Amino acid sequence: MTEYTVEFVGTGEEITVSDKETILSRCIEEGIAQEYSCRVGMCLACSAEIVAGEVTQPAARGLTEQERENYALTCMARPASDLRLDRGKYPPSIEADAADAAGDAAAADD
Ligand code: FES
Repeated sequence: MTEYTVEFVGTGEEITVSDKETILSRCIEEGIAQEYSCRVGMCLACSAEIVAGEVTQPAARGLTEQERENYALTCMARPASDLRLDRGKYPPSIEADAADAAGDAAAADD
């Protein structure tokens, strides 16, 4: 087991996370207010932008392949190096999903 430092930019928060646990589970244990909902890699609520470092997140099904390079779903992501994360930053696909939902709602109103 290897432990890495995860720093959250803009908050001064820093935690140690092993490569055997998810970043979200450690956040919950440490009392860090990381948002989450589904905890299965689908809703994107727990997203964070990867400012520096690498994660492994093969089960992050809510992200496209390209988004996986720049965003971590903290409920699925395990550190693969020391990390700097920007919590509450969402990948572009979540904006597309929101626009689709708004379009569907507008169409339903017609
Ligand atoms: S909590 Fe839903 S994707 Fe992580």
